[in-house]
Amino acid sequence: MSNEIALTGIKPSGTPHIGNFLGMIQPALELAQEYQAMYFIADYHALTTVKVGDDMKHLTYDVAATWLALGLDPDKVIFYRQSDIPEVMELTWILACFTSKGLLNRAHAYKAAVDDNVERGLAPDEGIYAGLFFYPTLMAADILLFDTNYVPVGLDQKQHIEIARDIAQAINSTYGEVLTLPEAVIREEVMTIPGLDGRKMSKSYDNVIPMFAQSKELRKRVMRIVTDSRRPEDPKDPETDNVFAIYKHFASAEDVQRVREGYLQGGLAYSQIKTELFELLEIEFSEARDKYERYMEDREYLEQILLQGAEKARKISRPKIAQIRQAIGVD
Ligand code: TRP
Repeated sequence: MSNEIALTGIKPSGTPHIGNFLGMIQPALELAQEYQAMYFIADYHALTTVKVGDDMKHLTYDVAATWLALGLDPDKVIFYRQSDIPEVMELTWILACFTSKGLLNRAHAYKAAVDDNVERGLAPDEGIYAGLFFYPTLMAADILLFDTNYVPVGLDQKQHIEIARDIAQAINSTYGEVLTLPEAVIREEVMTIPGLDGRKMSKSYDNVIPMFAQSKELRKRVMRIVTDSRRPEDPKDPETDNVFAIYKHFASAEDVQRVREGYLQGGLAYSQIKTELFELLEIEFSEARDKYERYMEDREYLEQILLQGAEKARKISRPKIAQIRQAIGVD
């Protein structure tokens, strides 16, 4: 194992679905085999949208319980809550002084909010908070504070990593090599997990398969996946079918091969492969679902795990912020 750091933040925004699992959670957990992994719950990022305290608490525990249930080992990785690390906030301001405002103007989330306002005939910044505008700078602080080498993220976050690199370069060209330039790690092949309706699986489309749904609900969801109207005996196209697109990530290589051939030859019904997919998901997630439920009932345990994680993280962030303060002359 190398001592390079792989770090990623998880915004607490509801129980994750299998698209999150394949695109983000699983690759992130795998990185822990190779690097010193750091995962944190990005509650201050969530504050741009979650404005009810009880919701924030619940969503935070939800993420913690989910990752622990899926096999995150808190003794091996550093698992913490962003708001428990005061150095993040300190660094955010320092970085803000090296973040060109034009860069933030062009950040996707802010730009989308402005475009939306303009389209609706409103003032460009109507209803937009500075927190949303500053989002990429806070994210850069999360990353740069720990001399992160790799950041596993979805494609939608790529621009944020580029912004973090830009900021780090601005600091380094002013003060010398103070910060490490991070690299995004993006898994292209799972970017397009389709949801029930064939669009990208996303909570905002309401087309997700939740990981920890009860069996009955899980079966119902899987049966709802949209297919074309080919009959059981017809040949089918594995490249365009939504069920197969999910199935292939959970089945063994031999089964994937068998089903692919069955599709091409005809004689395999969509309902049959849906049943197989349901069974695979049951096997994959039922144990984690039980653990998740147990963790959700033990907030004290979750709290203790997160606080221990924060202690470990601060062993890195305290000396790092001291080094940065010294570089900029405020020590
Ligand atoms: N912005 C990320 C998202 O919405 C979450 C996040 C916050 C993050 N800070 C990070 C991801 C640092 C990677 C590294 O998914």
